Amino acid sequence: MSSKRLAMKFLSQKDMIAAGVTDMERCIDVMDEAFTLAGKGDYVMGGSTRNSHGQRVWFPKDPQFEGMPKGGPDQRFMSLPGYLGGRFKVCGNKWYGSNVNNPKNHGLPRSILMMTINDAETARPLAIMECNVLSGMRTGAVVGLSARYLARDDSETLGVIAAGPISKYSTTAIVKALPSLKKVVVFDINEEAAKRFCEQMSGNLNIDVSMVTKFEDAVKNQDVVTSAISGDITPLFEDKWLKEGSLLTLPGRANVENDYLRDAHVVPDCWEMQKTYKIEGLMLPEDERTIPHIQLHNMVDSGEIKESDIHDLGKVAAGVATIDKNSSKKKYFISNGMILQDIAWGTTMYESAVEKGLGQELVMWEEPYMV
Ligand SMILES: NC(=O)c1ccc[n+]([C@@H]2O[C@H](COP(=O)([O-])OP(=O)(O)OC[C@H]3O[C@@H](n4cnc5c(N)ncnc54)[C@H](O)[C@@H]3O)[C@@H](O)[C@H]2O)c1
Repeated sequence: MSSKRLAMKFLSQKDMIAAGVTDMERCIDVMDEAFTLAGKGDYVMGGSTRNSHGQRVWFPKDPQFEGMPKGGPDQRFMSLPGYLGGRFKVCGNKWYGSNVNNPKNHGLPRSILMMTINDAETARPLAIMECNVLSGMRTGAVVGLSARYLARDDSETLGVIAAGPISKYSTTAIVKALPSLKKVVVFDINEEAAKRFCEQMSGNLNIDVSMVTKFEDAVKNQDVVTSAISGDITPLFEDKWLKEGSLLTLPGRANVENDYLRDAHVVPDCWEMQKTYKIEGLMLPEDERTIPHIQLHNMVDSGEIKESDIHDLGKVAAGVATIDKNSSKKKYFISNGMILQDIAWGTTMYESAVEKGLGQELVMWEEPYMV
């Protein structure tokens, strides 16, 4: 019989870095594993559809109580629960808050994240971990994975919209996933942020990185384009700017044209999760609805796009669906993030921490209190 003593690890950011959380090549491979399991169906996410992204605390736009946060773009608290099978067999929950004014007003990152993982059979907590780096890494690695499966092998240029942390992780991952890449350009509405991005990324990645001062110059004729903006200005990626055969890979919000969606390969991280977003979104008051990719849902509902033509990245990774990445058709990858990604990378970090003796032990009980 296993011990009744219950102890778990607390992994600080320093511990996570020592455990290897910033190893992008490994993270892309672990995301490949997680997406392959998702493509086969060996996962459960929260909610009654088993495909909910998570539970959001929806603050009102006009709070009536002193101190209650005000709702708005990138102002939220969220809990993302789920289970991942395969070699993992772990349940996890990521809990985070986001305040778009944090960097300016408090010198803190926009979002602050932590994660708990539990053994799926006994519910025994395995670890509580700092999750900012983990979450950014897995978000970037998924973008890298989309490049692995959807970008042309001869891709040489990358256009990046927004120079924030998520774009830095995504750029790192795309550069690792595409050895043919020669040049990166970045556009940010904040020129200082774009300058810092160029200095940091060219140093870290040993590749030519420069900034452009017009949005479309980071989009036109690029083989791969990625965007991770925050706030309330959502740019439109015009179809005519996007090169034949190119990949537009989006961990963040964007507007695209109907013609683009109709003609491109549309690859979501998880279409069932996108459908659940819509079900949950429709329950909100009309003036507060923010349903991701509503344009795509509308085109599916009207029959302009066949649902059977939408293939999840997991299905592509698992070989259940095939997309010819070298074709001249444009590819559109949309990622809203799944807890499976955090569980896969978090469990990998926990295992590494156990092996390396990292982290602090937190004892919940020596013997459980039983009435
Ligand atoms: N898909 C996922 O799994 C996932 C995970 C984490 C974050 N995200 C999303 O990624 C986005 C970016 O996150 P972050 O932490 O890097 O945010 P951040 O606020 O730290 O940085 C965003 C950057 O975008 C720039 N920007 C804003 N509007 C712009 C525009 N119209 N054009 C060009 N640049 C613009 C800002 O100046 C800033 O430099 C957020 O919206 C977040 O919700 C997605």
